[in-house]
Amino acid sequence: MDGNGRWAENKEKPRYEGHQAGLKTLSKVIEFVYKYKISHLSVYAFSSENWLRPNSEVKNLLTLFEKAIDDNFNFLIENKICFHLLGNISKFPKSLQKKIENLKDYTRKNNKFHFYLAANYGSREELLFAAEKLKIHRKPITETIFKKAMYVPKLPDVDLLIRTGGETRLSNFLLWQSAYAEIYFTKILWPDFNKKNLDNALSFFDKKVRKFGKIN
Ligand code: IPE
Ligand code: MG
Repeated sequence: MDGNGRWAENKEKPRYEGHQAGLKTLSKVIEFVYKYKISHLSVYAFSSENWLRPNSEVKNLLTLFEKAIDDNFNFLIENKICFHLLGNISKFPKSLQKKIENLKDYTRKNNKFHFYLAANYGSREELLFAAEKLKIHRKPITETIFKKAMYVPKLPDVDLLIRTGGETRLSNFLLWQSAYAEIYFTKILWPDFNKKNLDNALSFFDKKVRKFGKIN
């Protein structure tokens, strides 16, 4: 969900207003995706490298996460959405960690729609986390065994990866899971991303013939 800061700067607003606008976009996108009966949605909200941003911005983002959980708690429960966290939350403030754990607990049995929030997430860290867990494994490690050692084994392979904001890189997001993802880059800044943009990305995906290394 890239482009919040530039969206705000273009409007001569402080960057946090861009993040606030980005959160509104996220709520709308969740609704559209849910209505389309897509069953898994992952979003990259905060990377393990984002700690390098100015303290005030990091603080704003963490406060916004708490607000987002408070504001959407009932929505997730009412719509039978299962909430998953991808990442290492031990560096987050205790109050935020508690809210995340609580939300995971309350929604763990839901299976209509799976929402994965990548927060303090880095794909290399995730791969190391899995490798570390498997250190004592005596038998040969298969893809299935490796997958089970990752943050959320339930997370399926990525079909469509959308990056807004004009950059054409993955920035350490779901590298293992995106091995065969169709990747859609758009210059639209995340707060401006709307239903039409989502539909464009989905029709880009629909046109793809996915061969997974085979001829047909
Ligand atoms: C993405 O927007 C949101 C987060 C990383 C939290 P940015 O904050 O990266 O926005 P730009 O790239 O500066 O426009
Ligand atoms: Mg950015």
